[in-house]
Amino acid sequence: MPGEYVLRCILMLCCALLSANASNWLYLAKLSSVGSIRDEDTCERLQGLIQRQVQICKRSVEVMDAVRHGAQLAIDECQFQFRTRRWNCSTLETMPVFGKVVTQGTREAAFVYAISAASVAFAVTRACSSGELEKCGCDHNVHGVSPEGFQWSGCSDNIAYGVAFSQSFVDVRERSKGQSSSRALMNLHNNEAGRKAILSHMRVECKCHGVSGSCEVKTCWKAMPPFRKVGNIIKEKFDGATEVEQRKVGTTKVLVPRNSQFKPHTEEDLVYLDPSPDFCDYDPRSPGMLGTVGRQCNRTSKAIDGCELMCCGRGFQTQEVELVDRCSCKFHWCCYVKCKQCRKMVEMHTCR
Ligand SMILES: *[C@@H]1O[C@H](CO)[C@@H](O)[C@H](O)[C@H]1NC(C)=O
Ligand SMILES: *[C@@H]1O[C@H](CO)[C@@H](O)[C@H](O)[C@H]1NC(C)=O
Repeated sequence: MPGEYVLRCILMLCCALLSANASNWLYLAKLSSVGSIRDEDTCERLQGLIQRQVQICKRSVEVMDAVRHGAQLAIDECQFQFRTRRWNCSTLETMPVFGKVVTQGTREAAFVYAISAASVAFAVTRACSSGELEKCGCDHNVHGVSPEGFQWSGCSDNIAYGVAFSQSFVDVRERSKGQSSSRALMNLHNNEAGRKAILSHMRVECKCHGVSGSCEVKTCWKAMPPFRKVGNIIKEKFDGATEVEQRKVGTTKVLVPRNSQFKPHTEEDLVYLDPSPDFCDYDPRSPGMLGTVGRQCNRTSKAIDGCELMCCGRGFQTQEVELVDRCSCKFHWCCYVKCKQCRKMVEMHTCR
């Protein structure tokens, strides 16, 4: 029937639009490390990139290994930060790697976008500092003597380059859509907030030179915070994320807090549009929705890692498991440490 045919076509178009998720480039993390991105032909074959990203890839082939490393960094950090939550950032072998969660405008999607944009800025900046790239190196704008009297020296992280690259590569899909949809605005805001988590926490690291470690001469350089710190900051922003809606101000569209009693979000805060599902149950129709059956929980905690909340009231099982640890370590002259293996029984609780 023609009607049915048209309907099916519309459905397929919707599916195609849905699966073309702006975070699909994270799929780069699934490339094996041996097959590195060496030439322009590889760019054409990479899954998950949109055409404009393929063009960036071709123009900056040498940076792409850092981008892939960034994708892996983002996934690892997400799994660390969410390890005791119902949704724990588990990835799929298909796109988008985080499944349904990132196709909606949830708080979790806000975290994923922020950490991904930050991780690309971070990994590219690291690659610049390490001297492995021709396009960038250390930040040479940092030089001379500081007002505090120390000498700028050594390799200052070129965060401006990493951030600019992240903006062009990660944001490209939203920018090309003319920033019209509220979801594009949400993604762009959270991408920027993620990068701000690095930019606003740059620090000064120093080394002392002089007789037996005295600080007669001090040389310093600007360094990014460790990525774990960046993850912690963005996780805090996740906990305090603001629910927003789109509003027209003059001719431009902006995101404003849904609850007008709340103070407006800053550039560093995360924003989201849609409430999150409860993540309690496995849903075969929603890729990535694994539910919490079998998840480990903490019997005494009242927080989200506690069995009550984690298991969504279904109850839990308790097992005795043997834990093997290193103990009674002794230092032997010279120079090694010898430990014993200690075994102890601990209770482990898992959700029904
Ligand atoms: C996340 O939870 C699922 C079960 O819901 C489990 O199979 C998986 O190992 C967990 N992943 C991580 C990274 O902890
Ligand atoms: C379980 O939660 C309690 C209370 O929050 C905490 O003190 C304890 O360290 C947790 N246990 C584990 C194994 O994480």
